[in-house]
Amino acid sequence: MSFRLQPAPVARPNRCQLFGPGSRVALFEKMASSAADVINLDLEDSVAPSDKDSARANVIAATHEVDWGKKTLSVRINGLDSPFWYRDVVDLLEQGSERLDQIMIPKVGCAADIYAVDALVTSIEAAKGRQKRIGFEVIIESAAGITNVAEIAAASPRLTAMSLGAADFAASMGMATTGIGGTQENYYMLREGAQYWSDPWHWAQSAIVAACRANGVLPVDGPFGDFSDDDGFRAQARRSATLGMVGKWAIHPKQVALANEVFTPSEAAVAEAREILDAMEQAKARGEGATVYKGRLVDIASIKQAEVIVRQAEMIAA
Ligand code: COA
Ligand code: MG
Repeated sequence: MSFRLQPAPVARPNRCQLFGPGSRVALFEKMASSAADVINLDLEDSVAPSDKDSARANVIAATHEVDWGKKTLSVRINGLDSPFWYRDVVDLLEQGSERLDQIMIPKVGCAADIYAVDALVTSIEAAKGRQKRIGFEVIIESAAGITNVAEIAAASPRLTAMSLGAADFAASMGMATTGIGGTQENYYMLREGAQYWSDPWHWAQSAIVAACRANGVLPVDGPFGDFSDDDGFRAQARRSATLGMVGKWAIHPKQVALANEVFTPSEAAVAEAREILDAMEQAKARGEGATVYKGRLVDIASIKQAEVIVRQAEMIAA
């Protein structure tokens, strides 16, 4: 371990990010009354080019008019390869209310993408005397993005979260699938005639988690497209949680409860973590750095693992 301490990410629940198109105003109140921790109003790919201006106006109005409660309110702007993104930033920051917490930058490819948006946002905040500093979240969804993920994660103190966008990522990588997350039927190992599925998203997820954890950024799993497949969503979300991700997107309201279920540490997991901490307290009192808990080794690293679970549970309870 470096002598530099690993920075802590922002302490907020981020179990589920619920998306809705900025063009579907009728969904906004439903999103606000959902159980999602984060709301993502979308100006990008769920909005047709002909609706970009009206969706932007809808979203700006919603920052003033809708009661978003304690949720983190985020707006996904258009990509830097589009003719829309600068207008999204300027209008949101000039006309959006102080309730807006962050903007989501899609299709980020390098640190300079963030620098460009940061420069614009910083200037508008100063000019308009905005009180709350806007946070950023980004989507890694291209070959460039995953190649440069480490510099992206370190690009701005505004950056709070980073998601994997499976669909655009698969397209950019040339992956032979139209599936958005989850099991891909051609990605398997064969042994004695039996197929064992493997996880084609694993590497990208782990790269994102490492870049995020090194920089105090929350790693988040993106969309799971088949919203009729609850078990598939759960399985994908459980893999993400196991790898260190803190939450997952919902692209349909029925996915919110699934994400909350997976990313809230279970009572049993919290109880076990507390027992491990107790066992290590007792070991410490005996002058030992390692001991046995339920027939397995626990040592000083186990304290840190258990604390991750306990801290997460305490933050969610708060
Ligand atoms: N947030 C909150 N409520 C939503 C919702 C959302 N994103 N999507 C649908 N609902 C509501 C519907 O209004 C409906 O409410 P009702 O029971 O009061 O009538 C209920 O949930 C069931 O909706 P359903 O008919 O199953 O879905 P739909 O056909 O209206 O919409 C989608 C399906 C996928 C088009 C829609 O959920 C959607 O636009 N999702 C977000 C897409 C997005 O933002 N993509 C960008 C990120 S990948
Ligand atoms: Mg995308």
